[in-house]
Amino acid sequence: MASRIPLVIDTDPGIDDALAILLALASPEVDLQLVTAVHGNVGLAQTTENALRVLHLAGRSDVPVAAGAAGPLVHPIPERAGHVHGAAGLGGVELPASPAALDPRPAVVALAELLLAHDPGTVTVAPIGPLTNIALLLHVFPEAAARIGRVVWMGGSATRGGNVTAAAEFNAWADPEAAAAVLGSGLPVTMVGLDVTLPTVLTETGIARFRDGGGHVGATAAGVLRQYVDAARDRYGIDGVVVHDALALTEAIVPGTLTTVRRDVVVGTTLGAARGQTLVDRRSVAEHGVEVAEAVDSAAAVEFLVSRLETYGA
Ligand code: BDR
Ligand code: CA
Repeated sequence: MASRIPLVIDTDPGIDDALAILLALASPEVDLQLVTAVHGNVGLAQTTENALRVLHLAGRSDVPVAAGAAGPLVHPIPERAGHVHGAAGLGGVELPASPAALDPRPAVVALAELLLAHDPGTVTVAPIGPLTNIALLLHVFPEAAARIGRVVWMGGSATRGGNVTAAAEFNAWADPEAAAAVLGSGLPVTMVGLDVTLPTVLTETGIARFRDGGGHVGATAAGVLRQYVDAARDRYGIDGVVVHDALALTEAIVPGTLTTVRRDVVVGTTLGAARGQTLVDRRSVAEHGVEVAEAVDSAAAVEFLVSRLETYGA
């Protein structure tokens, strides 16, 4: 196999974040070297604790976790997403505490040191929450940020409107100024938005496969998903769950999984109805801009996730 891709996950666990972390750990194509926590679905103290516990669940407490931003760059967000992910972020499941201590470095310092220790262009950073930490990295350590090989971000929407407001997807809405900074930075960003995540539904049948696959990680992950499944049925009337963040990780693990087109993207940062909107110019292919994921083989993506979790730790 070609050498493993060094990977950092920037995350706000979050049920689908937890699944995305487990997918990365179950995938030999990538080498998860750092997890940075950010505010988002729930508060920073909880997302940090959840990141530590998810790694411990997988027997990977050796992966350092560093805490990042506790809130957005400019305006506080009016609400978090505890109603979707559970007040503590993991669907009401209390995972055992990790014996590992939090990395004492702030997330941006840990991230910058990791980037400076690798050859330029080799590290993939997968932010699957608000982009606050990555925007701070750009401002505080621009020379380190410039060494990132790929940013694969779960967030935004080109054609589907929003999921938290009519215009905005949650991760963009939770820190629009940060999203504007990162998407406009010139870094090689792939935007994995609602266009490709919403059609990618993990059904009860798929969940049952890794619940019963013989590994305690899959069984626990299925338990964590329970509340998410119930919320999706009640709120959207769908059988199954949209595992947004795991799809972004799939693209990070196997580049080219998603069909992307280079587009100019502007993020709405005014206070009002368009706040957090990712306005994607689909009239033409951009010269610079962002690689926007526009098409997905959803069945294949779900199969990838299920088959990895089904055998992980079994
Ligand atoms: C995104 O918002 C969060 O609730 C999920 O974890 C995902 O990152 C989807 O809009
Ligand atoms: Ca997330």
